[in-house]
Amino acid sequence: MKACIAGIGSYVPARVLTNADLERMVATSDEWIRERTGIRERRIAATGEACSDLAVQAGKRALTAAGLSATVLDMILVATCTGDYPLPATACLVQHQLGATKAAACDLSAACCGFVYALSVADAYIKTGMRHVLVIGSEVMSAITDWTDRNTCVLFGDGAGAAVISASDGKRGILSTHLRSDGTLCELIMVPGGGSRTPPSEKVIDERLQYIKMKGNETFKVAVRTLEEIARSTLSANHLRVEDIDLYVPHQANIRILKAVMERLGLPIEKVMLNVDRYGNTSAASIPIALDEAVREGRIKDGSLVMLGAFGAGLTWASAVIRW
Ligand code: UT7
Repeated sequence: MKACIAGIGSYVPARVLTNADLERMVATSDEWIRERTGIRERRIAATGEACSDLAVQAGKRALTAAGLSATVLDMILVATCTGDYPLPATACLVQHQLGATKAAACDLSAACCGFVYALSVADAYIKTGMRHVLVIGSEVMSAITDWTDRNTCVLFGDGAGAAVISASDGKRGILSTHLRSDGTLCELIMVPGGGSRTPPSEKVIDERLQYIKMKGNETFKVAVRTLEEIARSTLSANHLRVEDIDLYVPHQANIRILKAVMERLGLPIEKVMLNVDRYGNTSAASIPIALDEAVREGRIKDGSLVMLGAFGAGLTWASAVIRW
């Protein structure tokens, strides 16, 4: 018994924020952003458009692609760090909006690794008897971005991607998932205020602690090392070589990180899905959006061997290999 991706879909908000727009907001330039990150533009949720709104659109598209009704879902997992509310789980709002009447629903917090972590949870549930799990990565990063901080505001964007994970007894499906973490590096990427450590207060607002703080340069180095390391251990666990992979779909944070990883692994650019230029870093949504685009562009076909690779706050890093 394997768990396979029966359908995939994504949704990004209509509003495009370009590098030229950012030049008018902070001391930056289109040239700096493109050269240092590879990002040209990102999507920003409309006022009043929240995480669950994006998640529902992506979820509907994944269900349509799978040819399934929401009523067959056993579980909905929403990977996010920007849920509608601290309480209840965004997944419950999605469950209601989709009419998934028999589904359990909860959120999963693993930052940019959220989708791959949630995929591994779905994989385990399918192997122990569930039939259909909807996994969604959905983020409104613009809500936790400090639009006065040029170190971070040029990097992030909003969006959602979803996958219906179903039982499959054939050859296709998730071959393995690999999850790692290192909390000693928790301060590299953090939203320091607004949680139980430092609850919302005037001080939090004054010091802008409700927004993402990131030590970009240190994160960059760890990202390259961990992505390479986990890709190698994933390949070896499956007795695969780099050449066997048809498409590598990494978390889209920075083109320079991905180029360094490709070079270290010996992966040609034609075998790597890249869309960071159009969406920036959409955290947990980035891999499912990229997967959906790769399927729609015909870069993933039935039988393709696909490897995912993610890293992010925590720190966490994760990978998966899927026979599509
Ligand atoms: O998914 C979450 C994981 N996070 C990431 O993947 C982020 C990983 N890190 C990065 O992508 C890169 O480190 C950044 C894109 C964030 C920064 O690039 P960098 O090459 O590491 O630059 P830096 O932080 O070393 O800064 C270089 C210079 C600094 O100026 P000085 O001190 O050399 O004068 C910064 O102040 O660039 C300056 N700078 C900017 N200049 C123009 C920082 N941000 C900007 C900006 N525009 N937006």
